[in-house]
Amino acid sequence: MSNPDQSIPVLAIDGPSGTGKGTIASRVAGHLGWHMLDSGALYRAFAHVAVENDISPDDASGLQELIRAIDIAFIQTDAGLKIAADGTDVTDCVRSEVGGKRASIFAKIPLVREGLLERQRRMRVAPGLVADGRDMGTVVFPDAFLKIFLDASAYIRAQRRYNQLKEKGFSGTLRALRKEIAERDAQDRNRSASPLTPASDAIVVDTSGKGIVEVFNEVVALIEERLLEE
Ligand code: DC
Repeated sequence: MSNPDQSIPVLAIDGPSGTGKGTIASRVAGHLGWHMLDSGALYRAFAHVAVENDISPDDASGLQELIRAIDIAFIQTDAGLKIAADGTDVTDCVRSEVGGKRASIFAKIPLVREGLLERQRRMRVAPGLVADGRDMGTVVFPDAFLKIFLDASAYIRAQRRYNQLKEKGFSGTLRALRKEIAERDAQDRNRSASPLTPASDAIVVDTSGKGIVEVFNEVVALIEERLLEE
């Protein structure tokens, strides 16, 4: 299936980490009864398997081979989305801060982005898709019916991520986390291949000072408004 039906609607939700993007995307997908693409999880799983197999970011043929061979599956469970790479559950390791850092390094490589493009487009299945990432509106689904770019100040994003991680027993400091997030953001924004940036037709929603419910309601209102325009 290399030619997904362009008439199937896609809602693109892009933005940096710590904006509540993943939570909003999955709640909106549940609300609409649509499928969900967590493209960050795809990059995280890819980077994890590359590192496990000693494939370095400059090993072009190793990366090409991995793109051809890797089997990444998303399994919706009661405990949330599980990520399996080549049949092994890798959810916990890819969701870690190290997992995010690795994903950002491999995601800079044009051949990796190109190689993972088709897999993402194949997720466009009826009745619709909510696509969460960095380049959903700019590159992967430029024809999305609505493009939302969630943002927040770097300070707030680091604080949110810190609170989330603390609940999971994270022992690092807010200061160190802030530095790591700033580095990953800079890497994602400044790369030449599909940098993190709002599409020219995206609606930017600043989530600073807003809770998840408020942002969810704002996004749902934007969807309803757009559907009425059609
Ligand atoms: O959304 P996330 O934090 O799980 O993403 C992890 C990294 O993957 C992020 O720092 C950059 C990369 N990524 C990307 O380059 N393009 C995407 N569409 C999604 C993620």
